[in-house]
Amino acid sequence: MFHKIKLIIKKILACIGLYHPSLGIKISSKAKATMVLTHKRPEVRIFVETGTEYGTMIDMVGNSFEKIYTIELNDELYQKACEHYRGQEKITLLHGDSGIELRKALQQFSEPAVFWLDAHPPGDINADNTPIIKELETIFSHSVKNHVILVDDARKFDIATIAKMKHLAKMNDYRCSIQNGIFIFE
Ligand SMILES: C[S@@+](CC[C@H](N)C(=O)[O-])C[C@H]1O[C@@H](n2cnc3c(N)ncnc32)[C@H](O)[C@@H]1O
Repeated sequence: MFHKIKLIIKKILACIGLYHPSLGIKISSKAKATMVLTHKRPEVRIFVETGTEYGTMIDMVGNSFEKIYTIELNDELYQKACEHYRGQEKITLLHGDSGIELRKALQQFSEPAVFWLDAHPPGDINADNTPIIKELETIFSHSVKNHVILVDDARKFDIATIAKMKHLAKMNDYRCSIQNGIFIFE
């Protein structure tokens, strides 16, 4: 009975665009890096990440980009990243809330970039703990209109935030899809 109710709810949410079978998928870091590189158009030179953490993504895709911006809120993780990437001039490390700092990164360039939006605390993601709406508003208001944006961990987002993200994308002529548990805006 409970299973049937869950199925019906999923069908209703799918009808209004808030559920997708790919939403619940969890993939490895390596598969995530492959997703980033698959969505990189050949002419794109810039990679922007929110949520640096240990630099796992940068270490996997960094060679494919000429310039990298990454933003970390946590003091200790930021300091560690500064040590790890010391001397690597193509990497700019920004410290603070990506809802604010992302604007500073975007002021540095006027060409299309690939974005990996991954700034959130562990666990469920909701309006109180994610900068995603501010991040998307910043990217969509940039002078360049053909960025590619990947948002990790689709399965962790609450429905209200997903609905807002999709609405924002639609208002700004970006198409939204979910592939392997990752939101893609392009
Ligand atoms: C899932 S980890 C990022 C993993 C990394 N992007 C990767 O792929 O290797 C999330 C990171 O986001 C950071 N974070 C959380 N809220 C943030 C915010 N508002 N601004 C910037 N970073 C944030 C956390 O400290 C944590 O290091």
